[in-house]
Amino acid sequence: MIRFSKVRSESFTGIDDNDLERGFLIMCGIFGIMTKRTDIPIAKLIREGLQRLEYRGYDSCGLAMANNGTIEVRKKAGKIADINKDGLFDSMQGQYGMGHTRWATHGPPIDKNSHPHLDCKNKVAVVHNGIIENYQQLRKELTARGHTFRSDTDTEVIPHLIEESLAKGISFKDSVREAIKYLTGAYGIVVMHADTPDFMIVARKESPLTIGIVPGETCFAASDIPAFLPLTRQALILDDDEMALLYKGKVEIFNVITGKPRTPKPFQVQWSIDAAQKSLDGVEYKWFMHKELHEVPRKIKDQLRVPQEQLDAFAKTVMAAEHVYITAAGTAFYACLAGKFQITKFGGPYIEALLCSEFRDALPTMPPKSCVIAVSQSGETADTIEAVRYAREKFGAKVCSVVNVQGSSITRYSDNVIITAAGPEMAVASQKAYCTQVTALTIVALRIAELKGTVPKADVAKYRVALEKTVDVTNEILKNEDKIKQLAETLAKKQNFYFLARGLSLAAACEGALKLKEISYNHAEAYAAGESKHGPIALIEKGFPVVFVAPPDETYDRLIGNVQEMKARGGTIISVVAEFDTKITEMSDYTIRVPIDNDKYAIAMSAVPFVFPLQIMAYFASDFNKLDPDKPRNLAKSVTVK
Ligand code: F6R
Repeated sequence: MIRFSKVRSESFTGIDDNDLERGFLIMCGIFGIMTKRTDIPIAKLIREGLQRLEYRGYDSCGLAMANNGTIEVRKKAGKIADINKDGLFDSMQGQYGMGHTRWATHGPPIDKNSHPHLDCKNKVAVVHNGIIENYQQLRKELTARGHTFRSDTDTEVIPHLIEESLAKGISFKDSVREAIKYLTGAYGIVVMHADTPDFMIVARKESPLTIGIVPGETCFAASDIPAFLPLTRQALILDDDEMALLYKGKVEIFNVITGKPRTPKPFQVQWSIDAAQKSLDGVEYKWFMHKELHEVPRKIKDQLRVPQEQLDAFAKTVMAAEHVYITAAGTAFYACLAGKFQITKFGGPYIEALLCSEFRDALPTMPPKSCVIAVSQSGETADTIEAVRYAREKFGAKVCSVVNVQGSSITRYSDNVIITAAGPEMAVASQKAYCTQVTALTIVALRIAELKGTVPKADVAKYRVALEKTVDVTNEILKNEDKIKQLAETLAKKQNFYFLARGLSLAAACEGALKLKEISYNHAEAYAAGESKHGPIALIEKGFPVVFVAPPDETYDRLIGNVQEMKARGGTIISVVAEFDTKITEMSDYTIRVPIDNDKYAIAMSAVPFVFPLQIMAYFASDFNKLDPDKPRNLAKSVTVK
């Protein structure tokens, strides 16, 4: 029997369920318990564990409990505490179970898309963190073979695949293994079977999965250690392509492809819950901001997976417009500057960038066939919402948005949405959100180039490969972050900075200056380098730090002149240059060297690689100045007042 207790079918986004797209999950929390103990409130412990994972996502949640051969699921859109107010989860009965807290990146967060998901017979339940890339094909085939789907998610193919093997008399363990072989993409999954009360199964590829053990008594499966930390400190990390059977206090691990077993060697977790929430891949970070900077490479990788149909709809709306505007606030506005530059450079329309707070004043009227691209991490910035509504409701403009929070206000006022893959950003100052926004807009630029034929197809493919390489480049930058730390500590006490650049890199200069200002409280101004001699240069005297963002693109030679002007007046030159750079390096007091390839494709994709070190530098300056980079004074994560 399955009971969807008190589950409402309407979405809080106000969108009808029939209109829904699928639900991808890149950043979610999962937690399961398999135990011998009968004296503990299992459902309540799962719910509490999920709450400790809410920093991974919190737009919907659910629990599945196995109770004497049946599985009961309760799931709902919203935050765990609100949903459980009357004990909806805590009152669930059962011998073992699991839960999920979701952060949807595609498809609105509504009840039916919440996890866990079940097979047709309600015997197999699955929670999942990741993306099943080939889910459409699998779903088509499964539907043709008679399976009924109850959600729009990619995840739901997994229980149905398992169901197929079980029906052939294959064991639960081998059925899960078989199902996994069909999946392409990323996953961390926990699977339970109503009639297999001795163990549950976990597996992972690219998405995190940890196991907690109380030997001889209990096993926990979680996407991150904080879920089980108050319950045990013995943990194991599952590797990619591994699967584990979690018994009541015993774990069996083996490789999905080879079947080879691995002896589990648990380690003792020393962290506090707070520290564990700030840890990544076993490394503990002092601040969320530092952890989130270390998430940037994988978030860019996730961002590269924008579903084709979403991308096409977005690109075609922009292409069909006669006038295109791009708008946002703060860091998101600087992502707009980079995005606008890329879209136009690759043959898309000219785009006017307007701060959202200036939007309606700058445009007392808007021409017909206008399109507004809105960029926002929260999707709730009041000025951005106002700009979007003004354009849409007064002038009938189309709205395309790039937003990190599915179901947020801006997504509701949009014709097309690309959800960024940053996942929840705990640090107030945006960093991984910025990198994914710029990546998303660059993907749009390349798609427009492809659709319009402004760049040869073979070249688009090469730009795309170069964009994919930013994952490696940002990883390399992180490996050498100590050098950036040293530089940050050398500069952290300087009171004033200029950040100068030309073209695409002006966005990086603006973002670098803003980051330093808001988390390290150094006064920093960004200018178009060519503009610096029209006033700003008056402030330059010996030792005044001037940061140049200097990729070897078409602006490089002209930038050299600006470096000379600042150097001649005693400025301390800090430059962000390509690893193979020589000219600006020779003129600089300090350099940050970015490991990009020396070809036109890599150079054109410099927006993220050249801003990332500046975000890292701001973080280290803040830490050196003994400030709290996660909660800078006077700032809020989401500015919901005009
Ligand atoms: C700076 C920062 C802010 C936001 C701005 C817009 O680090 O985070 O400048 O970018 O308040 O917020 P969203 O992107 O939520 O619209």
